[in-house]
Parts: sequence; structure tokens; C-alpha cells
Amino acid sequence: MLSGWLFRTKETRALEADSFQNPGMLGIEQGEAIWNTVEGSEGKSCATCHGDAAESMKDIGAHYPKWDASANRPINIELQINKCREERMGAEPYAFDKGGQKPLTAFIRHQSLGTPVSVDLSQGEMQKWWDQGKELYYTRYGQLNLSCASCHEANAGKYIRADHLSQGQTNGFPTYRLKQANLISLHNRFRGCIRDTRAEMPKAFSDELMALEVYVAWRGTGLTVETPAVRQ
Ligand code: HEC
Ligand code: HEC
Repeated sequence: MLSGWLFRTKETRALEADSFQNPGMLGIEQGEAIWNTVEGSEGKSCATCHGDAAESMKDIGAHYPKWDASANRPINIELQINKCREERMGAEPYAFDKGGQKPLTAFIRHQSLGTPVSVDLSQGEMQKWWDQGKELYYTRYGQLNLSCASCHEANAGKYIRADHLSQGQTNGFPTYRLKQANLISLHNRFRGCIRDTRAEMPKAFSDELMALEVYVAWRGTGLTVETPAVRQ
């Protein structure tokens, strides 16, 4: 099991490892500002209830997705943020990749920097979602007839065009992509990979992508959280 970091160039690796140079740290700072901003009809910020994120959110992000008993499906950090916004702040949920979703998610994940990833499959029906995610991971789709495993398992370590194929791990998300000069969410990355095979893309937070998130996070068990990772 290998972090995507190992597959990047020396320069990109150095950029990620240096928290003063890492361009993703700007997003973390934005996330921190949002954490402390009052929004919604209840006149509350995240900090009103959760206080200092360095304490209250420490290591939390390494264990998502989790089982959400009230929704009867897995929940990721993005959806947990929306849940608190709606149910506890009287604020609108963020649309996918909009508003403060990416920086706030990255800020929460960053509080787990260096913590090994683990997901609890014993809760609720997590095992069922894992099964479904695994099936999707090995299913060939699109005009190119490729599965996630075709690239990230069978061909990891090889080059595809100018890109060095990694194991497609999720421990660095949200990542900072140099090409886009922005933070990139996990479901955006999943959708990009699926689009590259010329298959129909499931929506962000759909059952398909949540099942994939459960399964792919599990594949990275033991890798440490690197958010914000830097990628090309
Ligand atoms: C009015 C108080 C309140 C506010 C404001 C609030 N939360 Fe929460 N939050 C809670 C409670 C209570 C829980 C635990 C129950 C639950 O999951 O809904 C929780 C749970 C969470 C969790 C899950 C923690 C874990 O152990 O997995 C995260 C992450 C989180 N909140 C983030 C946020 C963020 C980000 C904001 C601001 C956008 C926010 N919360 C605003 C009360 C609040
Ligand atoms: C045609 C080959 C191909 C297929 C099929 C493919 N990917 Fe990727 N994927 C890539 C390339 C190229 C990258 C960028 C280089 C890298 O990190 O491997 C990437 C990156 C990723 C990353 C980011 C890794 C990191 O460390 O930043 C994840 C996560 C990912 N893919 C998941 C998936 C999943 C899940 C599927 C199946 C739905 C999938 N990929 C299908 C080619 C593919």
C-alpha cells in the first residue's frame, strides 16, 4: 500500500512536505476562517459548538466515511458539514464543491495530519456499502472498458501519457492540484477518473460514489492523512 505522494516528482513531493511552501495551506487557512464565521439563522459558527478544531476535530477526519444511523447510509466530511449547517446553524447546505465546502473539508482533514486512516466497517450496514464499492472498483465500464483496478492495481507504477499511475489512494484529499491551481475534492477526482474512461459519471455523493469512497478509503487503511496533498 503506497501513498500517491511516492508517485509524484521530487519537486512536487518537496512542495507537499513543506507546510510553508505547500500551496494547499492557503485553503486550510480559508477553512479556518470559515470555521470561525457566524452563518445561518441561529447566529452560530462551527466554533460556537466545537471550539478549537485542533482539539475537537483532532484525528476525526482519518476515520471517514462513517455510518450515519439517521440517514441510514455512510456520511463523509462534506455531508457532515452540511448536516451541521442545516440542523444546527439554520444555514443552507453547500452545493457540491461550492461555497466553503472544499476549504472547510480540507481544514477538518488537516487536523488528522499524520494519523493512520481507518474506517469502521462494523457500524450499521457499512459492510454492505464496502461490498458494493468493491464491486464497482472491479467493474469495467465506459468505451475504454476499464475498471478502477485496471489502472490503479494492475498498472500502478506505470505511465499513462505523462502521468505516473498511483494506487489511487484517498489519504491526501482534498488535494491541491497544480494544474488547476485549486483544491480538488475526492468526488471530483472520482468523477474525473470515470470521465477519462468515457463512461457516464455518477453524481457527487450518489450511492455509487459513497460506496466507492468507503471501499477506497478502506484500501488505504494505515496510510497517514496527508491533506492537503499536492498533485500535478
Ligand atoms: C449548535 C451546535 C453545532 C454547530 C454550530 C456545529 N455543529 Fe458540528 N456537531 C454538533 C453535534 C451535536 C455533533 C454530533 C452529532 C451529529 O453528528 O450531528 C456534531 C458533529 C460534527 C462532526 C462529526 C464529528 C465526529 O466525531 O465525527 C463534524 C466533523 C462537525 N460537527 C463539523 C461541524 C462544522 C464544520 C460546523 C460548521 C459548519 C459545525 N459542525 C457546526 C453540533 C454543532
Ligand atoms: C484510465 C486509467 C484510470 C482509471 C480507469 C481510473 N483512474 Fe484514478 N487516476 C488515474 C490517473 C492518471 C490519476 C493521476 C495520477 C495518480 O495519482 O495515479 C488518477 C488519480 C486517482 C486518485 C488520486 C490519487 C492521489 O493520490 O491523489 C484517486 C483517488 C483515483 N484516481 C481513484 C480512482 C477510482 C476510484 C477509479 C474507478 C472509478 C479510478 N481512479 C479509475 C487514472 C485512472
